[in-house]
Amino acid sequence: MFAQLSTTTLSFARTARALLATFGVGAALLLLGAVAPANAANETVLGSESCGASTCHGAIAPWDGASVLQNEYITWKNQDKHSQAYKALLSDKAKKIANNLGIGAPNRSEQCLACHTYNVPKERHGPRFTRTEGVGCEACHGAAENWLGTHMTGVRTKADRQRIVGRGMYPTEDPVKRAELCLTCHMGTEKDRRLNHKMQGAGHPRLSFELDTFTAVQPAHYVIDRDYHTRKEVANGVKVWAVGQAIALKRRAAAIADPRRNRMGVFPEFTNFDCHSCHHPLEKPRYERTAGDGGPGVPRVNTSNLTMLRIAVSAVDPALGQELKTKGQALHRSGTQGVEAMEAAAQNLARTAHAASQKVAAAKFDSGQMLSLLKALTDEARRGNFNSFATAEQASMAFGAVIAAMGDGGYLSNDAYDKLDAALGEMFQTVENPANYSPYRFRSAVNKIKAATPASL
Ligand code: HEC
Ligand code: HEC
Ligand code: HEC
Ligand code: HEC
Repeated sequence: MFAQLSTTTLSFARTARALLATFGVGAALLLLGAVAPANAANETVLGSESCGASTCHGAIAPWDGASVLQNEYITWKNQDKHSQAYKALLSDKAKKIANNLGIGAPNRSEQCLACHTYNVPKERHGPRFTRTEGVGCEACHGAAENWLGTHMTGVRTKADRQRIVGRGMYPTEDPVKRAELCLTCHMGTEKDRRLNHKMQGAGHPRLSFELDTFTAVQPAHYVIDRDYHTRKEVANGVKVWAVGQAIALKRRAAAIADPRRNRMGVFPEFTNFDCHSCHHPLEKPRYERTAGDGGPGVPRVNTSNLTMLRIAVSAVDPALGQELKTKGQALHRSGTQGVEAMEAAAQNLARTAHAASQKVAAAKFDSGQMLSLLKALTDEARRGNFNSFATAEQASMAFGAVIAAMGDGGYLSNDAYDKLDAALGEMFQTVENPANYSPYRFRSAVNKIKAATPASL
């Protein structure tokens, strides 16, 4: 019934990761500085073709000696689904969704264009920009009108980078900013990028996102080499994962807390709940008593991000981890206490999620913390804390992020990495199709990860 991360996506995640591991230089654990916000968004969008000249970012193959790969356009055009995002609106699947919603042609509906293109108003369209390019360079890197000239004269230092960000280039290297950017489309916003249960019911694929995995799968069109380190602050994959969880939780909690967003109809908005707590065959009851949930027969708020964040935060601030747990349980319980109680509990949780996002963004996540995280994930999985499909799916990407970061950092022997990677492959398979998901098979993959985890580094 549901769309899911495709087989290709997840196996590709592993291949992409293997490539990153080959190219990656050891993690330099620099703290991220504050980044100036992008300018007020009214600049002209120049269009991906403007970036794609062969002497700019449109080279057929990476350039030797250049500071960036220079073939970003070709990677995006040939391998990145974002370049197909508009075309997806011409598919039969899109037409069916639009037809169910009664909104006419999907490629002309603002509702769909909002996320499937860089949907800026006509007056901001430059001569070479067209929405048919899909999610192009500037949808992520910011409208180029004011920064194009400066960036061609060269960005060599962190100060140069700050200057260009001040001209409206988006600070995609900052994990907080990156999470905020991706989630506007991969989770949706209330204002213009909206994906509610009505659209899910009409047949739109279920959205599920993890920042580190999705950054690798996109695929990455950049290499973190020595030159990159001179221009940009670098966050390792575990930090990227943890920050992604924190921002997702903050947004989810804020969406539930806002009466205008939560009470669109008779019921609270269903997309904030775990889809599979309602949608699964009655013939195969799967409820298992879990401490702190709302109890049997109560739809569960989707707290998969909370569970992951609690584990990440506990590695750096156990008390804050405990606070997240308590507030998460309060939110689950509020499900039986009426919608106002639920909104209040969500508001409370959003504040803690914000504090946690700052905590993980400032944390180091060194090799010792990575190993503790891997062990913590394993222990929690074995205790049955990841039984729901949504949590198991997030957990598998969490295992992937931590193992990949350990590989990138050079903290694992080849043998340990290969064994962990094989167990991870098995784990990804168990969450590929929600209809066939079995917590028992998931836990068996977890046991293989446990067996392959080194006792110390
Ligand atoms: C909040 C942002 C958002 C909105 C609004 C949105 N989409 Fe999507 N859509 C996505 C994302 C993100 C994906 C990719 C999901 C994934 O694979 O993780 C997607 C995937 C799809 C796919 C599957 C594409 C494929 O390659 O298989 C179709 C079809 C689709 N959307 C159609 C629509 C239609 C029709 C509308 C308007 C009714 C719409 N979308 C509105 C974000 C959105
Ligand atoms: C879906 C979002 C997204 C799209 C679309 C996108 N990028 Fe990126 N790009 C990123 C992210 C994330 C990074 C990595 C963080 C960083 O280095 O800023 C990045 C990094 C880069 C870099 C930096 C490499 C370095 O060494 O500093 C270049 C150059 C680049 N992208 C060019 C492009 C071009 C050209 C296009 C369009 C053809 C494009 N990007 C489309 C998200 C995107
Ligand atoms: C303007 C909206 C938008 C933004 C911003 C955006 N995406 Fe997407 N993304 C989409 C849409 C729409 C699709 C589905 C395209 C399709 O399948 O045709 C997609 C697809 C993807 C996919 C492929 C998923 C799959 O199932 O194969 C990955 C990976 C991805 N996005 C990563 C990212 C990352 C990482 C960022 C942030 C750096 C990001 N996206 C930012 C709209 C967006
Ligand atoms: C609180 C319970 C509940 C939650 C949570 C929920 N749904 Fe639904 N869903 C329903 C109901 C009720 C219907 C309408 C009856 C039906 O068609 O099954 C429905 C219908 C649907 C349909 C149409 C089914 C069909 O056979 O045509 C899809 C697809 C769907 N939901 C997807 C989702 C996704 C994806 C999520 C999570 C993001 C989700 N639902 C969360 C209760 C829920």
